[in-house]
Amino acid sequence: MTAKILGTGSYLPPKIVTNDELAKTLDTNDEWIFSHTGIHARHVAGADDCTSSMAAKAAGRALEAAGTKPEEIGLVILATTTPDYNTFPATACIVQHALGCRHAGAFDLQAACSGFVYALDMARNWSLANNGRKAIVIGAETLSRIVDWKDRASCILFGDGAGAVVIGGVEDDADAKYEPFAYRSLLGADGGGADFITREGGTRQFIAPDEPDAGQAGTLPKLNLQGHAVFAFAVKTLSAVVKSLCMDAGKHAADLDRIFAHQANGRIIEAVARRMNLPLEKFFMNLATTANTSAASIPISLDEAVRNGELKEGDLIALAGFGAGLTYAGALMQWPHL
Ligand code: UT7
Repeated sequence: MTAKILGTGSYLPPKIVTNDELAKTLDTNDEWIFSHTGIHARHVAGADDCTSSMAAKAAGRALEAAGTKPEEIGLVILATTTPDYNTFPATACIVQHALGCRHAGAFDLQAACSGFVYALDMARNWSLANNGRKAIVIGAETLSRIVDWKDRASCILFGDGAGAVVIGGVEDDADAKYEPFAYRSLLGADGGGADFITREGGTRQFIAPDEPDAGQAGTLPKLNLQGHAVFAFAVKTLSAVVKSLCMDAGKHAADLDRIFAHQANGRIIEAVARRMNLPLEKFFMNLATTANTSAASIPISLDEAVRNGELKEGDLIALAGFGAGLTYAGALMQWPHL
């Protein structure tokens, strides 16, 4: 038995905020943002959306695409850095209830922008250990509610949205048109760079129980980003992750049909392509209109590629993410028949 992706789905909130609109309240312009990041616009959640609602919409579409009923799902994993609550209950539980997955366990996974690839690996192994039971893996973010809209060096990078896949066990297909390829994964972290991307307000901050603010540790803190340090880490790590996965599988990077790298900055992806001596066209890119949606970026990209017909059965693909933690993660797989 192998565990495969059975369907994909995504959701982007309808409101679009362009660079020109940001320039009305911020000392910036479309030329700077696009030339430094490859981003023209981002989707921003309205009052009727939050992480759980977007996650449920994306997951509902993935269930529909997979032809799977909510009751068949045994596990819901939601990778997010922007949960509905600070810090519990898990947003995955709200999504599980909204979808009607009443036989499923549910938990959130925090590995920032690498979270979806971490979660996919957890779900795949859980499915194989449980007779091929089906799981939903979601990446969903409402970054617009935690960025500092006065910090032009960080707020311009981010957007909101959700992407999801259904994964489950299938018997090996003897009639497959291609030689089946075993899945490979790589999960990594370097906590030495923990302060490169942070959001304060957790238990790290000491407040004596008798102080007036006890229990309110740093309410509504914003995201802090050391852009240069993250950029350098991203270029080095994304190339290393993809190369290492290929080497482990006895493949060359040139054998890859498509690479789904975390959509953080187009210049990061261009630098990775140059470093790996690969044509830029191998790298899926949609950040011009979605911006950086953190844990949602890779599943949104996958769903877009599936719906545009840019992924076909048998394609050898790599997923590669990096993010706060610092974390990094990759997966190599053959795209299944959907
Ligand atoms: O999911 C992971 C999340 N994080 C990332 O992926 C971040 C990775 N890093 C980056 O994408 C880039 O480092 C940034 C896009 C954040 C910054 O680009 P940069 O080319 O490294 O610019 P910089 O920080 O070196 O800034 C250059 C100049 C500065 O002005 P001075 O000091 O040279 O006068 C900035 O103040 O550009 C200025 N600047 C801006 N100007 C107009 C910074 N942000 C803006 C802006 N509009 N939005």
